[in-house]
Amino acid sequence: MKRVLIFFMLFLFVKIAFAQVVYSPDKHLRLSFVLKEGGKPVYELNYKGKKVIEESKMGFILNDFLSFSENFSVIRTENTSSDTIWKPVWGENSEIRDNYNEMLLFLVHRTTNWKVNIRFRLFNDGLGFRYEFPTQKELRHFIIKEELTEFNLTGNHKTFWIPADYDTNEFPITTSHLSEIDALIENVRKEPLAAKAPSPNVAVQTPLMLKTNDNLYVNIHEAALMNYSAMFLNVDGKSFSLSAHLAPDKNGNKVYFQTGNITPWRTIIVSDDARDILASNLILNLNEPCDFEDTSWIKPMKYLGVWWEYFIGGGSSWAYTDFKDIIIGKTDYSKLLSNGHHGANTSHVKKYIDFASKNGFDAVLVEGWNEGWEDNVAYHKEKIYSFTKPYPDFDVKELQNYAQSKGVKIIMHHETTSSVIDYERQLHKAFKFMVDNGYNSVKTGYVGPIIPRSEYHDGQWMVNHYNYVVKMASEYKIMVNSHEAVRPTGLCRTFPNWIAQESARGTEFESFNGNHPDHTTILPFTRLKGGPMDYTPGIFQGDLSVYGSNKAKLSTTLTKQLALYVTMYSPLQMAADLIENYERFPDAFQFIKDVAVDWDKTYILEAEPGDYVTIARKAKNKNEWFVGGITDENSREAHIDFSFLPPGKTYEVIIYADAKDAHWQTNPQSYVISKKKVNNVKTMKIWLAPSGGFAMSIKEK
Ligand code: NOJ
Ligand code: CA
Repeated sequence: MKRVLIFFMLFLFVKIAFAQVVYSPDKHLRLSFVLKEGGKPVYELNYKGKKVIEESKMGFILNDFLSFSENFSVIRTENTSSDTIWKPVWGENSEIRDNYNEMLLFLVHRTTNWKVNIRFRLFNDGLGFRYEFPTQKELRHFIIKEELTEFNLTGNHKTFWIPADYDTNEFPITTSHLSEIDALIENVRKEPLAAKAPSPNVAVQTPLMLKTNDNLYVNIHEAALMNYSAMFLNVDGKSFSLSAHLAPDKNGNKVYFQTGNITPWRTIIVSDDARDILASNLILNLNEPCDFEDTSWIKPMKYLGVWWEYFIGGGSSWAYTDFKDIIIGKTDYSKLLSNGHHGANTSHVKKYIDFASKNGFDAVLVEGWNEGWEDNVAYHKEKIYSFTKPYPDFDVKELQNYAQSKGVKIIMHHETTSSVIDYERQLHKAFKFMVDNGYNSVKTGYVGPIIPRSEYHDGQWMVNHYNYVVKMASEYKIMVNSHEAVRPTGLCRTFPNWIAQESARGTEFESFNGNHPDHTTILPFTRLKGGPMDYTPGIFQGDLSVYGSNKAKLSTTLTKQLALYVTMYSPLQMAADLIENYERFPDAFQFIKDVAVDWDKTYILEAEPGDYVTIARKAKNKNEWFVGGITDENSREAHIDFSFLPPGKTYEVIIYADAKDAHWQTNPQSYVISKKKVNNVKTMKIWLAPSGGFAMSIKEK
């Protein structure tokens, strides 16, 4: 018995001796790393004494199926700490604290002598780690067949998920337990989307939001995705284990890697308070500082657009003509007849410019201005659009002069329909055309499967493409809002001209299959953790049957649409509805006119993924505050604590709330606007209708 005890103690000692531990600055998080028997690297994460991630594997399968996840030795370890403050060009807060303890492990693979380092960074709000391959004599290029990083969870958590798909992130979000994903995924994958490439197994996308039975909130994603492919997560619903699943190319390879490079960070945000997940800046902190010296040309914007009219079934079209046999560079559009309902025509665009100018908007997006839309058949056509040739009824020069005289910018549109190869060919000319004609921002689009046909939206080649476009754009001082691109990973810190992305199911789906009432109570916990979303809110006329052919109905009340300007953070916000609808509700439209798009400070007041979100923000360099609150299909009472306001003053608050009879399905346009006085010791209760919301604007009295 004694011998057994000695042996057991010796075993414990050896294990403890080899486990290397780091704590977060506030000591709530504890990361431990150990090389198990056979030199297998594993890590484990604890929060306030509870396990969050059980012992989980690390490593890769390389080249011809070399297992690069065992036979390692640790050569040495370096520990460092850092506590700094940085200022984003734009953001939810004008200052961000970056405070962490770090452990860098230098590993050698004993059979090949290849070296890899693992860097762990522990913040108060979570963990980031990445693999770093130093330059070395024995190894220069290799292929990653798979990354083996595991995230072994402690139970059958509640999970907010969309299925892994290499070509799209536009699925509705499902809430279920981990163990249920297996049974549900096939049905969810039936959602009709423009391009789909489902993972062959049960896997989900990140940012993945989880909630444990004992109320821990856990968010798994990645930061700084560059020259690598996006990470999905395989789900084992029996053992509650998640593991990395990289987007492949169509040759089955995941990443082509050269030593001297690093992987993206794998991130785990943890808290026992859901509000901390929204407040976390961990992903931004793990990205490199801003790459540009001059950022004066990067400006948050509120915009209108010749856009929603294409979705409502009212007849307006992107295409100029009904003639479809277009050959880019050969077809002479001046000889073709207009179809009579082309949206991007000069006089219609002028109306938008007038309305934008009158109401203080910065810009107008115009889609359907360029040659090629008649024959935009995804996947079939390599030379599909010209990005320098406007349609005959869209007068670029006249419109630019007009817009300039009214103090409004026009937002360029580059839908590529995923003929990425041809977009890259035209890119410099397209950007030069923009600069020559006074444009300073572009909305890009990647509808349909990718050309080159060997590639997926989320693979390494496309990741490099999106990053290349943003970098090139910066050389022309152009801001980019990419749609259908890989979901963001905080790169907007490094490249702040990447002003927004779509990369999730946006408002456009309200005109097809709809969004669930809880959709926007989940997105801030998932997609938005990577960066701002061009969600395009502001639809006042939610019943589309008024336009004729479309039977769709919006999933929110009107005031919930207002709240989204605060709850769905973005420095680029659209007022997406038609002018006529804003003219019908001028009192509610006032909030969209007033609301800021750049902030000094953000206060997460209430939050529960899938149920509700209430956020207050202080406008940048102004003594103005805006509050937005939303709920899912259930009505609720929001509790606003005004202690975020500076003390000792009285403020006037304008409240836009659901009326008592409001309901997203039966009475979405019923709202009340009231004025009240508040100070920083006041609290207030506000009722939200089913799928309702409220908005507030606050000024000093
Ligand atoms: C999909 C985008 O999300 C949408 O905003 C755009 O209007 C269409 N593609 C056409 O480019
Ligand atoms: Ca889209």
